[in-house]
Amino acid sequence: MDKFVIRGLNKLSGRISVSGSKNAALPIISAALLTEDDVILSNIPHLKDINTMIKLLEDLGCSCIEKNNNLHINCKDVKSTVAKYELVKTMRASVLVLGPLSSRFGKATVSMPGGCAIGVRPVNLHINALKSMGADVAIKKGYVVVKSERLKASEIYFDIPTVTGTENVIMMAVLADGETVINNAAKEPEIVDLVNMLLKMGADIEGAGGSVIKVRGVEKLHGCEYRVMNDRIEAGTFMCVALSTKSSFEIDNVPINAMDAIFEKFKESGGTIQILSDKLISVSADTVKPVNITTSVYPGFPTDMQAQFMAALSLSNGTSVINETIFENRFQHVAELNRMNADIIVSGNEAVVKGVKNLYGAKVMATDLRASASLVVAALAACGTSEIRRIYHLDRGYERLEYKLSKIGADIRRVKQ
Ligand code: EPZ
Repeated sequence: MDKFVIRGLNKLSGRISVSGSKNAALPIISAALLTEDDVILSNIPHLKDINTMIKLLEDLGCSCIEKNNNLHINCKDVKSTVAKYELVKTMRASVLVLGPLSSRFGKATVSMPGGCAIGVRPVNLHINALKSMGADVAIKKGYVVVKSERLKASEIYFDIPTVTGTENVIMMAVLADGETVINNAAKEPEIVDLVNMLLKMGADIEGAGGSVIKVRGVEKLHGCEYRVMNDRIEAGTFMCVALSTKSSFEIDNVPINAMDAIFEKFKESGGTIQILSDKLISVSADTVKPVNITTSVYPGFPTDMQAQFMAALSLSNGTSVINETIFENRFQHVAELNRMNADIIVSGNEAVVKGVKNLYGAKVMATDLRASASLVVAALAACGTSEIRRIYHLDRGYERLEYKLSKIGADIRRVKQ
């Protein structure tokens, strides 16, 4: 298992680039299952989670050819509709094949994803939607087993605006008979990106990005070429690095229209932003002010940015209060940050972050994807050297992070163990 060795306190400068979005690419790759034609994707990031999704499609019988950041998929010869536990347990987003398989083949056997470090992560809303579209759904030996003729359109009401739940139901509905209405749909930009690709494949969808999405089923979808949006969470993570290290640098390939809540919080905590073009910004910070954060569904403050901001706020000149409202166990980075001299107290889903003058390098352990990013944000600003172990968590969602950060002056290296 690799680790990062980081010597902190370097001032950073220059230009760092954002890669394609993991959380847009995952449903978009899965959507290739909806057609027997070629789907040619670009701006696909090289990440563990993307490799897992590709392996899953190949296991089903699809052909996937990667070249640089392009991915050429053909799912004409799908031989199996079984998404095996061995693959699904490593990435819960594998549940995203449930919709396309049920929709195109009328059957699917998808392992229950199981929980992960940040929470139980149930898929009951995905399953309820399938049932309301006329599918016969059973849970057998840890698998969701779906059987159905052609899915029928339905009026869906989500208790919670679930992101992958919304994506799955859209992919269930694109080939279903009639008009499906999704009420209380999630509004994340990655959902709009998926819909933009489905529209290019001939789907009939309106309202993506809002809380009511209408999908009129069509007979067939054809192939397409599509460029995946850039990653707003990676961009926000780099902004937290500017905050914690009090540096000024440029960030390229930023999905500027998807960044409002992150930009607002960055400015509120003392950062300044300059928009230099439709995708290039410059960020700088010479102090970190305390701010309060409550995570929320889009367009609110994203839960995927909570850990990274907490790391930066641990060096603020006051006290911040952070409420995590989306996941029940997303404070695992706190114990590790406190080992670096942060002063954070957690009670329930609230963390009180009392800013300290200095963080100190230490041996810390990554526990989940965004927690590991927060340890990097902290280590880059800490006195001395840190070792971050189990960075396989980080490799799930950040492409060549050590290379990108070194290029703007960070003293960071990967040590293979
Ligand atoms: C997506 O996960 C993202 N993953 C997560 O990013 C992100 O944190 C999350 O949305 C929230 O924004 C991908 O897009 C691949 P949810 P998802 O369904 O869809 C509950 C990262 O770091 N819920 O919107 O799994 C659930 O327990 C990852 O990149 C049900 O109760 O999240 C949670 O409390 C982490 N029943 C809440 O809804 C269901 O059937 C939101 O979950 C589904 C969800």
